[in-house]
Parts: sequence; structure tokens; C-alpha cells
Amino acid sequence: MRRVAIVGIGNGKFGIRKDASLRELAFEPVKECLDDAGISLGDVDSMVTGIASDEFSLAFQPSAQIHDYLGFNPKPNFRVEGACASGSMAVRTGWLTVASGIADVVLVVAAEKMNEVNTGVATEILGRAGDSTWEYPFGTSFPGYYAMIASAHMDRHGTTEEQLAMVAVKNHHYGMMNPLAHIQKEVSLEMVLNSFVVAHPLKLYDCCLISDGAAAIILASEEKAKEISKKPVWITGLGCGTDTLGLNERRDLTTLEGTVFAANQAYKMAGVTPDDIDVACVHDCFTIGEICAYEDLGFCKKGEGGKMIEEKQTYLDGKIPVNVDGGLKSKGHPIGATGVSMSVEIVKQLREEAGKRQVKGAETGLSHNIAGSGQAVAVHIYQRD
Ligand SMILES: CC(C)(COP(=O)(O)OP(=O)(O)OC[C@H]1O[C@@H](n2cnc3c(N)ncnc32)[C@H](O)[C@@H]1OP(=O)(O)O)[C@@H](O)C(=O)NCCC(=O)NCCS
Repeated sequence: MRRVAIVGIGNGKFGIRKDASLRELAFEPVKECLDDAGISLGDVDSMVTGIASDEFSLAFQPSAQIHDYLGFNPKPNFRVEGACASGSMAVRTGWLTVASGIADVVLVVAAEKMNEVNTGVATEILGRAGDSTWEYPFGTSFPGYYAMIASAHMDRHGTTEEQLAMVAVKNHHYGMMNPLAHIQKEVSLEMVLNSFVVAHPLKLYDCCLISDGAAAIILASEEKAKEISKKPVWITGLGCGTDTLGLNERRDLTTLEGTVFAANQAYKMAGVTPDDIDVACVHDCFTIGEICAYEDLGFCKKGEGGKMIEEKQTYLDGKIPVNVDGGLKSKGHPIGATGVSMSVEIVKQLREEAGKRQVKGAETGLSHNIAGSGQAVAVHIYQRD
């Protein structure tokens, strides 16, 4: 296997993007990451596209719309689907393409345009990412799945609604510092606790946003990376795990076993431990998701995630800063694009280009991206020279 680095990054504005079609959304970060790398599309050997669902953008074969619009033909492009983890699965596929020697330079672009449909329809589409035989037909929705996880966590580990709300307060705070964020708005603990209930105990501000957006990166082999970039960021560990489709089959609702499996694989491959991680982007689709991630990634012991946010250990000056780009909660969650956007943020941090939200001296970063309610999980570890 060859070493693989990220040598270019781009992230379009997340939000309700009535101004752009799916292909136009994708074009923005592609142009930005090519400019960042200082190369042209002609220097790229192959493309991988991460898009979760045709149903949001009302398109069939949306990846072809993107390579055609970019003028990439006749070079290869194919789509990777992994629900809300489609972006990270596309990064993993791009990494394998370069590591195996099939290509030297790969463009990974991920996009989603969710606001072509209204909230009710989006909820219905997303709900089908769960067990569509035994759970979804009986009325479960995505907020519903995570509400069950939150209730179990509160029951088993004494996590409180206030602790859930603290995750939202933190991520909205850092979203204020990210001009690309869908919502730039500080929220107080009281605002979160008094917002309307979506699925008890989760309220409006415990939920991620329904966003449109796209992100892109350029991956290169060691030889090419050294030619192209003065600041390559290496992907040194990759892990991928899975879990049961139905929550009813899980041994313990409070542990996402796919995360534990993927994290252990990634740490082992990179030769690091959770203590070595300087900055992380984790899957806070709902506030309980971030608390479970602290535990399942080994940042704290099982059951201590609530305490971790209460003690502000995941703030910029805490033990391990998490989601200081605003997370899915405030930066937004255009589902297919999220994983690549996480890679972009970690690269910014490791290159010390994150501005006000910079983690001083960050050398090792981690991204954690979940499909559905844990059915597939990708964890990547990033290191700078
Ligand atoms: C929480 C949710 C149901 C709210 O949708 P909604 O009731 O249709 O809300 P609206 O779009 O009418 O927005 C109402 C207001 O709340 C804001 N808002 C909407 N969702 C928000 C969220 N998740 N967090 C913070 N503010 C939000 C809007 O900007 C709007 O503000 P405004 O009145 O100042 O303009 C929706 O965001 C949701 O389903 N989120 C979860 C998405 C999901 O499951 N994704 C996959 C997870 S992996």
C-alpha cells in the first residue's frame, strides 16, 4: 500500500441553497480544492462521488451530472453510497484507489441537496435508512431512533437533558466562527431546553439541520503529494464498522458498536491511541450522538460523555476539542457531503488555517461519520509531517 495525502481542500457554503443545482453546488468546492492544490482537472486521474440519496435531488445517476458538468469525461468517476456517511466512504474509496496504485491523483467530491423536498418528505426519506421492515413502518423517524438512544443513555448512565443541550450550545458557539455554517446563531441552555420537542427527549436544537452543500478534496500518492503540496496531510488510519439495521436487535442501545470497531481499526492502523487525538469532527446528528461518540471513540469511559461536555472538555481549550467547526448541528448536515467536509476541517486544523477556531499545534486529527443510526461507520485518522 502506498501512503496517501490530502493535497487540496474545498468546502462550499452550507445552507438552504435555492441558488444552485446539485451540479453547481459540487462545482464550488471542486474549483476551490483544485486552486488550493494548484493543479487543474487535467492532472486528476480519477473521481469518486459521495451522494446519499437520489430522492433529495430528484435525480437518477447524480454523479454523472457532476462529472459531465465538470468536463471530466472520459476519465473514471463512480458514486459511493453510505447514507449520512457517503462522504467518508467516498474518501475511503479514493484512498484505496491511490494506495493500490490504480491512480496517483484522485478528486473526491460529495454533495447533497436536501431542500428540494420539505421537512415532512425529508423525514420520511431519512426514516427509511433504518429498519424498513420492523421499525420504520410503525412510525419511527431519524429523530425517533436517536431519541430512543438518548432515553436509554439517560436511564443507564444518568445523562441529563441539560447535558444534551450543552452539546448544542457548544456547537452553535463554534458555528458562529465558521462562515460556511448553515446557521450562525449562539443559543443558550435555556433556549435549547425550551425549544419545541421533536422526539422526546430531543428538541429542535438537539437536532442537526436539513442542509444543502458540497465539499471536495484531492488525494495524491506520496510522490505526487511532495510535488504538489508544501503541507500534505496524510490519512494514516482508516476504520469501517457496521451494526444491526434495527435498533431492536442491539445488545446495548447506548453503544454504537460500529463506531467502536471502526475506531479500533483506525487507531491500530495509524499506531495512535485516543489520547493522541488533538482535534476531532464527530457525528453529532443529534446531541446524544456526540455524547455517544466521546465514549465509543475512547475519549472518555462509557457513561461519562455527559460529564465530558459538562466539564467543557471538548471546547477549544479543553482536553480534546470536538466539532469546533460547528458540527452537523450548526455547520449543517447535507448528508452525503458531511464526511468530506469533516476531512476539509481536519486538514484546515492540521495546516493551522482554521482562524479563530484553530486548535493550537494540532498534529493528529480524527473524523467520525455515521450512516443511519450506526448501520455503517467510518473513522479516519489524519497526521501532518
Ligand atoms: C428539527 C427539524 C424537524 C426542524 O424542521 P422544521 O420544523 O421544518 O423547521 P423549519 O425548517 O420550519 O425551521 C423553523 C426555524 O428553526 C430553524 N431550524 C430548523 N431546524 C433547525 C435545527 N435543526 N437546529 C436549529 N435551528 C433549526 C430554522 O432556521 C427556522 O428558523 P427561523 O424561524 O429563524 O427562520 C429538522 O431540522 C430535522 O428533521 N432535523 C433532523 C434531520 C435529520 O434527521 N438528518 C439526518 C440525521 S443523520
